Amino acid sequence: MKVTAMIGSNRAESYNKQLVKYMKDRYQDKIEINILPIEKLPFYNQDEELNPPEIVKELRERIKESDAVLFATPEYNGSISGMLKNAIDWFSRVDLVLVNKPGMIVGASMGALGTVKAQLQLRQILNSRGVGVLTLPGNEVLIGSVQNKVDEQGNLTDEQTIDFLDSVVHNFVSWCDTLQK
Ligand SMILES: Cc1cc2nc3c(=O)[nH]c(=O)nc-3n(C[C@H](O)[C@H](O)[C@H](O)COP(=O)(O)O)c2cc1C
Repeated sequence: MKVTAMIGSNRAESYNKQLVKYMKDRYQDKIEINILPIEKLPFYNQDEELNPPEIVKELRERIKESDAVLFATPEYNGSISGMLKNAIDWFSRVDLVLVNKPGMIVGASMGALGTVKAQLQLRQILNSRGVGVLTLPGNEVLIGSVQNKVDEQGNLTDEQTIDFLDSVVHNFVSWCDTLQK
């Protein structure tokens, strides 16, 4: 199953980026994760939506070719980052490439609540008409105090978190199978 990942942080040492790389490796026998370079997208401009920049068209095609989408979100001031929102906005207009795609959400933050506010908002955004990403109820991967749960290579070390992530990926893949039938 091909999964396109959108990561809401462009910082080199991003925990969310490390998390997606960890997932790409750990679940390679179940899902093929490809990271979408959403940091290359310009700011959304409605004047350009009918004739968008090449990079928008290119990334749209990559989403179309995938079976599902993975969102890895940091929490910025109680919400998702502007970069992630910008990408979702581009993909929600004219060519509605996200509609009916199954989406999985994960998030890591240094705060105790592990992106809970950002994820609630993200679910609401994904539920918008032009976005239309399908999400599995529950299965919320909220990794708080992430700085204490990874090693120097960015691999998760916290057993409870790893077990939970395993179960969520399992649930997500099974759910995607039922959607395709
Ligand atoms: C602008 C900004 C706002 C932030 N706001 C929150 C917040 O609301 N809640 C939280 O838990 N962490 C917050 N943080 C800390 C982030 O959780 C932390 O920087 C985290 O490492 C960001 O994800 P990344 O490692 O993937 O870049 C904020 C960080 C920045 C830069």
